[in-house]
Amino acid sequence: MIRIDILTVVPELLESPFAHSIIKRAKAKGLVELVVHNIRDYTTDKHHRVDDYAFSGDAGMVLMIEPVFRAIADLKSRHNYDEVIYTSPDGAQFNQKEANRLSTAGNLLILCGHYKGIDHRIREHLITKEISIGDYVLTGGELAAAVICDSVIRLLPGAMTDESSALSDSFQDNLLAPPVYTRPAEFNGWKVPDILLNGNAAVIDQWRFEQSMDRTQRLRPDLLE
Ligand code: ADE
Repeated sequence: MIRIDILTVVPELLESPFAHSIIKRAKAKGLVELVVHNIRDYTTDKHHRVDDYAFSGDAGMVLMIEPVFRAIADLKSRHNYDEVIYTSPDGAQFNQKEANRLSTAGNLLILCGHYKGIDHRIREHLITKEISIGDYVLTGGELAAAVICDSVIRLLPGAMTDESSALSDSFQDNLLAPPVYTRPAEFNGWKVPDILLNGNAAVIDQWRFEQSMDRTQRLRPDLLE
């Protein structure tokens, strides 16, 4: 059982990603407890403000330290976090290896980044891991948090109906996954490779491995280095 707390100023953005399919089932089975918290609930400001102008005078609002500090302190007083994660384009690039690592955690706290950023003292003093999901900029860290949670939760034992399917994912062994097909065996004149229809299990396994190698060499040679 893993517990993931997420801190955000836009909790609505995280409703749908966790309400369907494998993530929904994992929650129902008690494999994961996912709790989304609104940072606004932790402000003592009478107008419930959570952001303010940057001291630098730059355009764009900055998430204030006080409500975030109170939120993290409150959660930390109740749970022992393996990582306090901040989603940001300047974090370490997320990958399957990191998803595997996080899936073995007991408690994770994810603070979603915000427009122009958050008061840097939060990052210096409260965050243990900064994660980017790629070299592009999102409007906030919520979608990145959803990506991280999705990739972690599907790895939890019991989350997928066929557990072995996680093992044949792309990246799990640094190779891209082989192609898959289903019925009909011929559509529009386009045929499923003969070997999948007539080969035995060992021959098919060998074919799948060769396909993986070939696709990786062509599409992601960097993975083989
Ligand atoms: N927030 C904005 N852009 C992001 C990215 N690429 N990864 C993680 N968090 C982000």
